[in-house]
Amino acid sequence: MARRKLVAGNWKMNGDRAALAELDAIAAAARAAPGVDVAVAVPATLILSAAERQPELDIGAQDVHAADKGAHTGDISAPLVRDAGGHFTIVGHSERRADHGETSADVRAKAIAAHRGGLRVILCVGETGEERDAGEAEAVVSRQITESLPDGADGGWLTLAYEPVWAIGTGRTPTPDDIAAIHATARATLRGLIGDGADGVRILYGGSVTGDNAAAIFAVPDVDGALVGGASLTAAKFVPIIEAAARAG
Ligand code: PGA
Repeated sequence: MARRKLVAGNWKMNGDRAALAELDAIAAAARAAPGVDVAVAVPATLILSAAERQPELDIGAQDVHAADKGAHTGDISAPLVRDAGGHFTIVGHSERRADHGETSADVRAKAIAAHRGGLRVILCVGETGEERDAGEAEAVVSRQITESLPDGADGGWLTLAYEPVWAIGTGRTPTPDDIAAIHATARATLRGLIGDGADGVRILYGGSVTGDNAAAIFAVPDVDGALVGGASLTAAKFVPIIEAAARAG
């Protein structure tokens, strides 16, 4: 099944108001690549101004709370992201799982809350270096998907991102064969959970994607795009990845 490529940036805890200017060139590249979906998860402080500055660009959050509102100091909810003009959120990023002790059950609750609040979801999974060295990568990814995928998930609102923890921000990436193996496992796990609907769910690769390696990564079977951290912070580094996705079709 043909799935449109998605190139999503994750600015993490980076990006002041001056960085909003990067969105102008990113939006221009998105317009020049009509076959590719382009999204940027900015820090919560920038969602409103980013969405107002580039209304055609898919702006989103990096996390949401599992509740819609209430006494949760410092957190933001899906309805608040939506109200600010955001259209999607990342959930389950390994930095959230590690820094905030988020379990797959927590991630599942957040994905459900995001969908309930009208946001699309990029749900992240991925093994640590120790788990890969122990030969457990496929089992870990399969288990994380099984435990964090909401009932009724479908590709209209949910995208999966495979992000090996050891590849994030390190400049190291798995081989194309290793990426292909995990994506095939992820697709098979999805099929077991949601049947034929699995064909409609995009599976992104994330972890040290750059303009230099994007074409090779997009050529891997079952890779439907990328979740990009460091190389999404400037248009100069992010646009070549969008262009590589456009060439990959
Ligand atoms: P990176 O981050 O591209 O800087 O490795 C990817 C991510 O954490 O989403």
